[in-house]
Amino acid sequence: MSICCNVSVNNEPTNKFFSRWSKRYAKRFRKGGLEKTQQYILEGVRKEPVTAKRILDIGCGVGSLHLTLLKEGAATATGVEVSEGMISQAKKFAEDFKLQDRTSYVLGDFVREAPSMQEADLTMLDKVVCCYEDYDALISASTAKTRAIYALSHPRQNILVESVFKLQIFFAKLFRSAFHPFWHDWTAIHRLIVAKNFELIYSNSTIAWQVLVYRRIH
Ligand SMILES: C[S@@+](CC[C@H](N)C(=O)[O-])C[C@H]1O[C@@H](n2cnc3c(N)ncnc32)[C@H](O)[C@@H]1O
Repeated sequence: MSICCNVSVNNEPTNKFFSRWSKRYAKRFRKGGLEKTQQYILEGVRKEPVTAKRILDIGCGVGSLHLTLLKEGAATATGVEVSEGMISQAKKFAEDFKLQDRTSYVLGDFVREAPSMQEADLTMLDKVVCCYEDYDALISASTAKTRAIYALSHPRQNILVESVFKLQIFFAKLFRSAFHPFWHDWTAIHRLIVAKNFELIYSNSTIAWQVLVYRRIH
């Protein structure tokens, strides 16, 4: 398992980039609730009961997914975030919803933090793998911590989405933006998750995003 190999990665550009966006994410959640991709993730994870489950939300943003599941009866949630801005918005929402006793937050790169983290029944990575270069390390470390349900979303594998996404990467590099997203081999990611003993139980998509939910095979 390659969870050791990304420990020297510099997450500061990701922190800065997403911290700048965090107020906008919070405003959207406060006003509009959940995005379509998030609604699909929840539809998929609800294939199994969420009551009393322990949640791990990696790249949790402002916390919309795990806070929604806690309101529905999940036991506890841990949000892991590289972005200080995102995690502070998530903490504020947890307090507003009086869920602070059932939430904990870890500021840092999940791959680096994973060895000291507890296992979860349900793990979610919503639009996170495309923000991280070493997908093998991220998927390996997160599936290893997952007892039952594993959900992720990633850009759709088609020529239109690939072109738009690669154009974003091109311009980010051209203008020397410190952060740029990553286009991975999404089919290889699916194969990797299956190789970690998970079966696909739900699949859905928006124009740009693919949502996949897996169950651990015992
Ligand atoms: C596109 S945002 C999505 C946020 C949230 N999941 C949502 O959909 O609203 C991706 C988030 O993943 C975080 N992230 C990326 N790689 C990470 C890692 N290895 N560990 C923890 N957080 C990470 C970034 O800081 C960023 O806030």
